[in-house]
Amino acid sequence: MNARDAAAWEALRQRCASCQACALGRTRTKSVFGVGRQDSPVLFVGEGPGQQEDLQGEPFVGAAGKLLDEMLSIIDLGRDNCYITNIVKCRPPGNRDPREEEQAACVGFLREQIALVRPRLIICLGRIAAGVLIEKDYRITRQHGQWIERDGIWYTAIYHPSALLRDLRRRPETFLDLLSIRDKVREVCPELYAQRG
Ligand code: URA
Repeated sequence: MNARDAAAWEALRQRCASCQACALGRTRTKSVFGVGRQDSPVLFVGEGPGQQEDLQGEPFVGAAGKLLDEMLSIIDLGRDNCYITNIVKCRPPGNRDPREEEQAACVGFLREQIALVRPRLIICLGRIAAGVLIEKDYRITRQHGQWIERDGIWYTAIYHPSALLRDLRRRPETFLDLLSIRDKVREVCPELYAQRG
């Protein structure tokens, strides 16, 4: 990574750590910025931190995170070669959905992260991320697994790992979506697998 990108990442991380742009800033323990390879072609976007993430400052470290790691391994990916973040960077109390005004206050961080990562594929984890990044009123039950291309980036959405923990019936269709993501990674950024050997 060049020095200018490194400085931009650091400045963004610091702004996020001290952000008070919405009410979530008052109740968080730690803001949860993102994790992984900062120039990965594959970006995963969840909803917002849960309790464990709030305590540790890292995305997807709780039960949903364990399942996400298994989902990544089906795509032959790991936390070291993709980037993972959320729509909102601070925990909504009681794990409720982030409110529209909280999403609006926070989405600038995600937009700047996307500009720095420059991904070729963006995988939305769940309805909230898909509603922000793909289409308002996205219907995850009907539209999951579909691909759209916009400005050189391929987007899809799959069920959120927390939804898959609650509802096992969604897992077979998610498995097919994960295979489709693996195929798309092979097609769009084959170097990612080649680098792994
Ligand atoms: N759920 C999310 O959407 N993001 C996390 O980081 C953890 C759980």
